[in-house]
Amino acid sequence: MKGIEGKNVIVSAGGSGLGRAIAVVMSGYGANVTTFSRSEKKLKETVEEGLKRNNRRINTLTADLSSEQDLLKVVDDVHLKYGAIDAIVLNYGDPAVAPFMSITGSQWDYSISMMFKSTLLLTRVACKDMIERKSGRIVYVTSKMTKSPSVNFSISTSLRSAVVGLGKVLSLELGPMGINVNSISQGYFLTDRLRNIAKQRAERGEGSYDDIIENIRESVPLKRFGKPEELGELVAFLCSDEASYLTGTNIQIDGGVVTFPF
Ligand SMILES: NC(=O)c1ccc[n+]([C@@H]2O[C@H](COP(=O)([O-])OP(=O)(O)OC[C@H]3O[C@@H](n4cnc5c(N)ncnc54)[C@H](OP(=O)(O)O)[C@@H]3O)[C@@H](O)[C@H]2O)c1
Repeated sequence: MKGIEGKNVIVSAGGSGLGRAIAVVMSGYGANVTTFSRSEKKLKETVEEGLKRNNRRINTLTADLSSEQDLLKVVDDVHLKYGAIDAIVLNYGDPAVAPFMSITGSQWDYSISMMFKSTLLLTRVACKDMIERKSGRIVYVTSKMTKSPSVNFSISTSLRSAVVGLGKVLSLELGPMGINVNSISQGYFLTDRLRNIAKQRAERGEGSYDDIIENIRESVPLKRFGKPEELGELVAFLCSDEASYLTGTNIQIDGGVVTFPF
């Protein structure tokens, strides 16, 4: 993959799962990757994975997506260590999965800060660098919920749809300035997030944990879960020179789960 080497990239929520895989794959292509999450222990594992796979160190900071102050700390660190930001990849923490009427106001407030306000802030700050250089890439990693919503996913569906909508408008506004903006709607990847959702469903009496996981896997036309690295490759592609004419899209990577054909 060309055109990523030496690029300064921020990947959010890289303490595990999808964010970690994106950070490791992009670092493997030579990007200067900075990632953050709340737990120092998880970030240490991300650094170890990057060293093991690529013999390259990923820059990490503890920071909470829902804290403006923390996000500005991340941006300052990247400016100080590497200079201008070339690309941002917004990946998120885990919004509550529950019936709409049982979700509290504070759960909504947290998720709005963690998923939407963080997107606004990081996009705005990074765009200043990108507009100056007339070049940049923005990737929003959302969920298949934007295309095929499910019961109990009201937070995920509504906030991620807002992010995808924002991405589309930004592709129109920022395209003339050399900035490409795309979203990704991923299906099922067997990470802590999916395991926790299956555990919660088992606790609600929807079946055994193993059966729930097996039923989800069976619902995928390709009959397997996605590998986080496969998502990492897609993100790297969207940030590469090869994807220079791609903007304003919301791309599915889901083994065929979303059935709407367009
Ligand atoms: N896995 C799937 O099948 C799937 C499908 C569709 C959408 N998604 C979405 O994709 C995103 C990533 O999921 P995943 O599967 O990689 O889950 P994961 O393995 O649970 O990873 C989530 C990461 O987010 C970090 N995080 C959580 N809250 C944070 C916060 N407030 N600030 C900063 N970092 C935070 C966590 O690290 P710390 O605990 O250190 O903060 C963790 O590293 C989530 O939004 C998830 O809902 C996942």
